Amino acid sequence: MVRFLNGEFVEDGRKAAVSPDDRGFLFGDGAYEVVAFYGGRPFGMEAHFKRFHRSLSELRIDPPDPAELKRLAPEMVRRNGMEGQDCLFYVQCTRGVAPRTHYFPDPSVPPTLYASVSEFNRPIEPGEKGVSISLFPDIRWLRCDVKSINLLPNVLARQQAREAGSEEGVFVRDGVVTEGTHSNLFAVFPDRLSTHPSNQLILSGITRATVLKICSEMGLAVEERAITRRELFDAREVFLAGTTVEIMPVVEIGGRQVDRGRPGEITGRIRRAYLETVGAV
Ligand code: PDD
Repeated sequence: MVRFLNGEFVEDGRKAAVSPDDRGFLFGDGAYEVVAFYGGRPFGMEAHFKRFHRSLSELRIDPPDPAELKRLAPEMVRRNGMEGQDCLFYVQCTRGVAPRTHYFPDPSVPPTLYASVSEFNRPIEPGEKGVSISLFPDIRWLRCDVKSINLLPNVLARQQAREAGSEEGVFVRDGVVTEGTHSNLFAVFPDRLSTHPSNQLILSGITRATVLKICSEMGLAVEERAITRRELFDAREVFLAGTTVEIMPVVEIGGRQVDRGRPGEITGRIRRAYLETVGAV
């Protein structure tokens, strides 16, 4: 696997080495993005790189030139022999290499820019049959709008979800449902859909934005309002939205069936429209 590190393409990716003094390694001091390529074509690349720029700016890390990233992503796909295939482009940027102190390093220290490409094993079966989720207290910080590489609460919740036999962990803060460990959540009610507002408590997903657009085209009303845990259990349909989960129906929450335990009709329609939009079908 060819990896990209600080301006160089490392043919044998395993040999790409980052210093132990890298701020990403020591502090989780950086941000990242994941862009899906369908049949070799990226979906939402500009929006992802815009969000990357914003995350890094919020962290006061000098962001890479978006034009460079737009060239880099397809080049990495090509160098990894994934042209024409479904794959995931990963990019992360940290505050660079410096002796460990909490202060920022000297401004002359360049950020570390890293990128890789991996196969995208699309979640086709879970997307058709639906999945179960488990709920967890949202113990994350109050800047979840920043796509930080600091993912400990997400990692812990996803692992606990797996141990509970669930596909995804979903966070609940102060009685309201925020989002999944790596996805946003939508609930379908008889007269509208609901999803958490795009504020500092969630990552404003590119897939979420795509769903909002699809719903407006379909004439489906969506309310950007945080729903309570209780409302979630009363929803007619629930689904997850994210680059890697695509649109994934939720058929069980903490062991309780959603509706009759089958993917709902609205979710199915949105999923089909999404897969068409991204070029998966
Ligand atoms: N995660 N919320 C969180 C916490 C996420 O980590 C992600 C994506 C999303 C969905 O965002 P988008 O639709 O832009 O992918 C929401 C990526 C894919 C990951 O961590 O692998």
